[in-house]
Amino acid sequence: MDLAEGLRTRKTFRGFTAEKVSKEIIQEILVDGHMAPSASNMQPWNFHVLTGTPLSKLCANIEDFHKNKKVTYNSAKDKKIPEKYMQRRKKLFRELKPVISALGDENRQFIESGSIRFYDAPAVIFITTDCDLPENKLMDIGMAAENIMLSAHARGLATCAIAYTLLYSEPIKASLNLNVDTETVLSIALGYPDNSFPINNFRSSREDLNNVISWQGF
Ligand SMILES: Cc1cc2nc3c(=O)[nH]c(=O)nc-3n(C[C@H](O)[C@H](O)[C@H](O)COP(=O)(O)O)c2cc1C
Repeated sequence: MDLAEGLRTRKTFRGFTAEKVSKEIIQEILVDGHMAPSASNMQPWNFHVLTGTPLSKLCANIEDFHKNKKVTYNSAKDKKIPEKYMQRRKKLFRELKPVISALGDENRQFIESGSIRFYDAPAVIFITTDCDLPENKLMDIGMAAENIMLSAHARGLATCAIAYTLLYSEPIKASLNLNVDTETVLSIALGYPDNSFPINNFRSSREDLNNVISWQGF
């Protein structure tokens, strides 16, 4: 797969087979993640990869936290999201609704319940950073994350970036042995796509490109 094709065909998968991803393949993917550009080449990321028992233990701990002190996801961090972005978000959930409904009533909260268990992916990559770095570290981490997802895609693997789980930073920090100066920015579920799982056929739409471009001097 060439890069241009990879960019256009990458998408989020929310169902994985149980097949393990080898450490060697994940290592290769992280080489690509680490090649991402960053402001002043500060490379403000650390990658933590969990699979097998450590991952199942973490999922069980997150589930306990979720049951006992359910937190509401607030990606806006108390900022009011402007209406046009709310509309785009609503559109995603409108488009997902029939696909999720088809999974049955017990899956009504599929995104929430799936996200907290990383959609049962056999491996999860957590990207952490230093709390003391300025906010533009998040741009660098976004670039590393996209490199990781594209690299996985090029190898026939599936990914889902998951921010929802970060609500449960306590069990994550304990499980990754993070010190107080470190924060978790994103988790990426990684595995082979379960092509029999209907939600994996879902493809999110995009705003009309003309609405997000302005040209000058052409
Ligand atoms: C920073 C970030 C956080 C995300 N968090 C979640 C999440 O918690 N749960 C989930 O199911 N998808 C999550 N996603 C996936 C987005 O919903 C998905 O990227 C978006 O709908 C566009 O679809 P596509 O990736 O298939 O192009 C996240 C994506 C990003 C970039």
